[in-house]
Amino acid sequence: MSVVAIIGGTGLTQLAGLTIRESLTLDTPWGQPSAEVLRGEFGGREVLFLARHGHPHRIPPHQVNYRANLFALKEAGAEAIVAVNAVGGIHAAMGTGHLCVPHQLIDYTWGRGSTFFEGELDCVTHIDFSHPYDEELRQRLIAALRTEGCEFSGRGVYACSQGPRLETVAEIVRMERDGCDIVGMTGMPEAALARELELPYACLALVVNPAAGKSTGIITMAEIEQALAEGMDTVKAVLRGVLAG
Ligand code: HPA
Repeated sequence: MSVVAIIGGTGLTQLAGLTIRESLTLDTPWGQPSAEVLRGEFGGREVLFLARHGHPHRIPPHQVNYRANLFALKEAGAEAIVAVNAVGGIHAAMGTGHLCVPHQLIDYTWGRGSTFFEGELDCVTHIDFSHPYDEELRQRLIAALRTEGCEFSGRGVYACSQGPRLETVAEIVRMERDGCDIVGMTGMPEAALARELELPYACLALVVNPAAGKSTGIITMAEIEQALAEGMDTVKAVLRGVLAG
């Protein structure tokens, strides 16, 4: 079975239950990744783990060096990537605590280092990105979610916003009109960079708040943190299932 790397997002800077065999401090042509790449065993399976925002959590979404992260994981031997992302729920079905395995995305970010194909090049490369997520890996996530018996959606459109601020109500209305179901800040350029490196990539998104305007109040860090604390055990169980599958 291929070596799976897990990119842990907000709420998953540490993978409790991971037996660390090696901690790799890597440098890449694109700079340093957010943290050491951990190689070890999780649920009895070989795994690589990287904390997207560093450990402790300190790098905001727009300043993550996505290129270094993906390059380092590939260098460490990753053959597939499962990304864990905290998101806001746009669609009514995406309530707090819901899990979603998106099948599509729309990129609303700007100014991020978003390709390996720049600088001194011999030719111009345009990767196919019609289907940003790897279908086989998505199905493995879906199977693990089914086994776990949790509430989830096996499809969804992920809106990637720039952050670090949350969205305005009008921005969420626009994203909804665009067909987006969930909104996060870290799905891109991560997914595109994985494709450039020919690494199968899929996302497990945990809804941690209703998106702006989707509840009566404002969005608080306290509600996000509570949802993360409540949801991460399920996320870890699903990840174990994916590795076993
Ligand atoms: N918007 C963008 N990113 C997020 C949100 C949100 O509401 N919640 C968690 N990450």
